[in-house]
Amino acid sequence: MRPGNGIAILPVFLTAVSAASILFKGGTVVAFNKQTQGLRVIRGGSVLVENDRITGVFDSAPNRVPPRTEIVDIAGKIITPGFIDTHRHGWQTVFKTIASNTTLLEFFGRYSSFVAPFFWNATDIYDSQLAGLYEALNAGVTTSLDHATHTWSKDAAEAGLQACIDSGARVFWGFTFANITGLITVEQLYPVFRSMAAKVGLSSSPTTLGIAYDGWGPNPNIGEINKIMALAKELNVSVITTHSLQGPWGFSNSPEDIHALNYLNISIPIVFSHASFLTPTGADLLRSTNQYISITPESEMHYGQTHPVSYSIQDQASLGIDTHITFSTDILTQARIWLQQARYERYLDVLEQGKLPGSNPMSVEQAFLLATRNGALALRRDDLGGIFVGAKADLIIWDGNSPAMLGWVDPVAAVILHASVGDIEAVLVDGKWVKRAGKLVAQGYPRARERFLRTARRLQAVWRDMPLPETPAEFNGNPVVNPDRVDVVRGPGDGYGRIYL
Ligand SMILES: *[C@@H]1O[C@H](CO)[C@@H](O)[C@H](O)[C@H]1NC(C)=O
Ligand SMILES: *[C@@H]1O[C@H](CO)[C@@H](O)[C@H](O)[C@H]1NC(C)=O
Ligand SMILES: *[C@@H]1O[C@H](CO)[C@@H](O)[C@H](O)[C@H]1NC(C)=O
Ligand SMILES: *[C@@H]1O[C@H](CO)[C@@H](O)[C@H](O)[C@H]1NC(C)=O
Ligand SMILES: *[C@@H]1O[C@H](CO)[C@@H](O)[C@H](O)[C@H]1NC(C)=O
Ligand SMILES: [Zn+2]
Repeated sequence: MRPGNGIAILPVFLTAVSAASILFKGGTVVAFNKQTQGLRVIRGGSVLVENDRITGVFDSAPNRVPPRTEIVDIAGKIITPGFIDTHRHGWQTVFKTIASNTTLLEFFGRYSSFVAPFFWNATDIYDSQLAGLYEALNAGVTTSLDHATHTWSKDAAEAGLQACIDSGARVFWGFTFANITGLITVEQLYPVFRSMAAKVGLSSSPTTLGIAYDGWGPNPNIGEINKIMALAKELNVSVITTHSLQGPWGFSNSPEDIHALNYLNISIPIVFSHASFLTPTGADLLRSTNQYISITPESEMHYGQTHPVSYSIQDQASLGIDTHITFSTDILTQARIWLQQARYERYLDVLEQGKLPGSNPMSVEQAFLLATRNGALALRRDDLGGIFVGAKADLIIWDGNSPAMLGWVDPVAAVILHASVGDIEAVLVDGKWVKRAGKLVAQGYPRARERFLRTARRLQAVWRDMPLPETPAEFNGNPVVNPDRVDVVRGPGDGYGRIYL
């Protein structure tokens, strides 16, 4: 463990004890069938893990396993791949619950990387990022694409990256190139980015270096983009990601924008977060270049980015979380919300014609695939997002006997519609236990929790005392207005209620 410049990093943070091989024996396996690109449910099945990989998927218990294999009986349980989150900002964990009714414009002016650097130091980022990753691992999210907006200095960037490495999670860490007024410019970030690629411990961890960039459109600086893309190629980044919000939001970063600069049809995966108001041309471009969007259902409902056309591009889509400070951090909840939202929209299409639906437009298997395999495809990682021989051993064991699950027949419906994070008994990343018997196993977790709470209390107090920003009269040329409020209290007056900080 190598501390970053001046950051007191916790000792011994390596997560897990690992037997070289583990056999999960005699349970219900939700495996992936590469021929059909669909699921294959095996009852009374077994999964063999050797080191970081799945090396056997069996219809019953295998006759022979490698010597000293740990045998884990999973009778009555369900084993699935870990979930893949293709959009989050993990460093923000300390803001949890203080922004429950924020708007996107208020978020920019109050909680974003344009404000935080003036109050946060590198230790804060480390503590907050690590707590966020433990929260995700506990929820069975084994892979995440982090749009890491905290890269406003070398120390700040390094602290967040160190937390990813120390967490044991598989993080596609998207170093953000942005100008922060009064602090740093993109120009000054090139050497910082370079130094991240040389970070000790990175190459031996499941975390990889990516790039996050929101300057593709509508007014790109082509010189800047060429420099960033040269670095992307030179350092062989694992992913590029961008916030794409067209329509009234007006910061497009669309497939068309990137294609016009000749950077869409490349070997590096590019993930478009939200892709709200994606055009038919944009959708065709995604298909012909095999690039993906990240739908963040809860975020797009909370902030109003919305997803009016995302139902039509499910074959190039994955699921993400976004700002986990304002809603759930688990992809299971996103999959469930999205399944029902997609059904709702497709039903509405029928009802609006004065007709009634005669079939159900989306299945639980589709929701499951969006939450697992499609995330892997978005990241162009054929070895993730499924249980099959050769896949990375990123796994979840579900308690099949909990009050919520009891009585299940279809394991996919049980997980997507009835389970909660509380039913996740165990999680492995890269063949290593990160959660077992319902608890995170990282030796450093109790200390990380204590440090995080101290940091959170201090920073939450700063934000509590910070005046709310003025709502702008317009944004990107469009007027800003208040939507009608909901009122749950009968009678005159405003039933909006309070927030409790
Ligand atoms: C960050 O601030 C906290 C609280 O003041 C302090 O304990 C910590 O040492 C600081 N870390 C750095 C790297 O300055
Ligand atoms: C950073 O600032 C430069 C100079 O003002 C500008 O041209 C460029 O578009 C900015 N980049 C981003 C990502 O905002
Ligand atoms: C680039 O990274 C990918 C994985 O993201 C790897 O498969 C490939 O071998 C690497 N290429 C080089 C030239 O290092
Ligand atoms: C991307 O490249 C592939 C082959 O390399 C080609 O078939 C496809 O048409 C290209 N798509 C676009 C939009 O240029
Ligand atoms: C959130 O709720 C508080 C308390 O009711 C209110 O003062 C504030 O204006 C609300 N924020 C937004 C962005 O609506
Ligand atoms: Zn985001």
